[in-house]
Amino acid sequence: MQKLNIRGGKPLNGSVRISGAKNAALPIISASLLSAEPLALTNVPQLNDIGTMVKLLAQMGVKADRSAESLTLSAANITDKTAPYELVKTMRASILVLGPLLARFGEAKVSLPGGCAIGARPVDLHIKGLEAMGASITIEAGYILARAAKLKGARILMETVTVTGTENLMMAACLADGTTTLENAAREPEVVDLALCLIAMGAKITGHGTDKITVVGVEKLHGARYAVMPDRIETGTFLAAVAATGGDVTLTNAAPDTLDAVIDRLRESGATITATADTLRIVANKRPKPISLKTAPYPAFPTDMQAQFIALNCVASGTAVVTETIFENRFMHVQELVRLGAKIEIEGNTAIVHGVEKLTGAGVMATDLRASACLVIAGLVAHGETIIDRIYHLDRGYDHIEAKLTALGAQIERLN
Ligand code: UD1
Repeated sequence: MQKLNIRGGKPLNGSVRISGAKNAALPIISASLLSAEPLALTNVPQLNDIGTMVKLLAQMGVKADRSAESLTLSAANITDKTAPYELVKTMRASILVLGPLLARFGEAKVSLPGGCAIGARPVDLHIKGLEAMGASITIEAGYILARAAKLKGARILMETVTVTGTENLMMAACLADGTTTLENAAREPEVVDLALCLIAMGAKITGHGTDKITVVGVEKLHGARYAVMPDRIETGTFLAAVAATGGDVTLTNAAPDTLDAVIDRLRESGATITATADTLRIVANKRPKPISLKTAPYPAFPTDMQAQFIALNCVASGTAVVTETIFENRFMHVQELVRLGAKIEIEGNTAIVHGVEKLTGAGVMATDLRASACLVIAGLVAHGETIIDRIYHLDRGYDHIEAKLTALGAQIERLN
C-alpha cells in the first residue's frame, strides 16, 4: 500500500493551479446518460473517483474518450442499466446514475451504497423523490430496482438538504413529463454547475443556487461542451495548509466566490487573502488564531473542510470549538492528530482543539478523503518526518497533490 512521507516544519511559497471540481465532475459525467449525443467536458480532474465513474458508465455501454483534462462521453448505445456493488461500494457517488438511467430508459438497477467511514449516509430521499415522480422502486438483494414508463413532474420537499439527492432528482426531472419543483434543495456550487451543464444540453431549469429549483421536463437532451468548475475544496485545502505552515501562495484557475465562508474564517485566523475573479493569494506569517466553526449546508461552512481546519487549529494560539452537523462520525482524523502531539477532546459532535506550539512527525493512518488532507496539512506543519498510510483515500479526491505541494517547496514523497 502506498504511503506519503512528509518532512514538515517549512512554509509554502509559490503558485499552484487548482483542478476541476470532483464533486461537480461526478454528477456531470453521469448526466451524459441523459442524452444519445456526446457530452464533451474540459477541466475534468485526474482522480481515482473520476476513473471509477467512467468505468461504471463504460460497463453500461458509454463510450469514453479521455485525454488529460478532457473527457468526451457518448451514451448512444446503452447495453446495461446496472450499477454493480463492486463499483458502488468504492464510491458512493455512483448513486448519481439512478436518476438519469430511470429518466431516459425507464429502468435502473443500482446497488445500495451501504455505510461509509463517516456515517450511515442513507439514500432514502433520492428514492422518495423518484417515487413522487411516479417511479416504482423496490429493494432486492442489496439493489435498488427502479421502473417508470415515463417519470412525471412533481413537487418534492426534501426534509434534509442533500447534495447528490438534489442532483439525482434534478437530472431525472429534465426528461419527466411536466414541471418538477425541488424544495429545500441543496444550494452548493456543484449543484449549480450541474444545472448549467444540463441547461447547455437543452434542459429547462431555474432557481439553481436557491433552495427551490424548478425543472420543466423536455422530450430529449442534446450534446454539449462544458468546462467543469474549479474545485473549491481543493482550493480551501491549499489555503488552510498555507495558513497553518505560513508562506505566500497564489492559486490560479480558482473560483473565489464559491468559498466565502472558508476565506472569511482564514482571514479571522490572521492570514491575508486577496482575490481576483479566478485567483487567490494567501500570505500568512504569524501563528494562526483559533477558529471556532460549525459545519452546515452551503453557503455556511462546508463539512468537507472541517478536518483541514482542525489541523490548522492544532497549532493555533488558543482553543477552538469545531462542531460537525452533517455527518455523525467525521472526527476520525482526531486520534491520528493526537499522535502528532495535538491536544483535542471530542464531546459528541464537537471537537475542542487546544492549540499547541508545535506538532512532531509520526506515523499516521488516513481514514477517509478529507481526513487524509487534514493529515497532509498536519504533516506539513509538524517538525520531523510524518508517514501517512492508506493514501488511496487521498488519490480519490486530490489531483497530483505531491507534485503541487512539491512545487510550493514542501518535502513530500510517495513510498510504494
Ligand atoms: C455530498 C458530497 C460530499 C459532502 C456532502 C455534504 C458529492 C459526490 N459528495 O455528499 O463530499 O461531504 O455532500 O456536503 O457531492 N441524507 C439522508 N437521506 C438521503 C440523503 C442524505 O438522510 O437520502 C443525509 C446524510 O446522511 C447526511 C446529509 O443528509 O447527514 C447530507 O448528505 P448529502 O448532502 O446527501 O451528502 P452526499 O450528497 O452523499
